[in-house]
Amino acid sequence: MRGASVSVLSLVTPGRSAPPPPAGLCQRREISSWLARWFPKDPAKPVVAQKTPIRLELVAGKTYRWCVCGRSKKQPFCDGSHFFQHTGLWPLKFKAQETRTVALCTCKATQRPPYCDGTHKSEQVQKAEVGTPL
Ligand code: FES
Repeated sequence: MRGASVSVLSLVTPGRSAPPPPAGLCQRREISSWLARWFPKDPAKPVVAQKTPIRLELVAGKTYRWCVCGRSKKQPFCDGSHFFQHTGLWPLKFKAQETRTVALCTCKATQRPPYCDGTHKSEQVQKAEVGTPL
């Protein structure tokens, strides 16, 4: 152990920086920091997009991607903001079983995603600022 640290120190002379790490090691570090940035381990909290649900007609058999992060400009659906803002969150993909009008949650606090369950009426959601987490 001691011999290893002495040999590393002997490579560094006063006034000169340490030699660069081997090329392969450096690339691995760059890739892992890139992955950590785009796919963070700890996801961000969803933010309140709106304080009322959006009513719309879902078409049977069609697949939708419901915004989980609250940052999409196309509420209640995903526009890719979760990825470009490095949230670590992903949209909820679901397929409509029948054509019908539903209320989709935009406060992101529902316990029945993607559907509104009335949680937006709670004091916590009503007092929250749009664009901030609960
Ligand atoms: S809009 Fe989120 S529970 Fe109603």
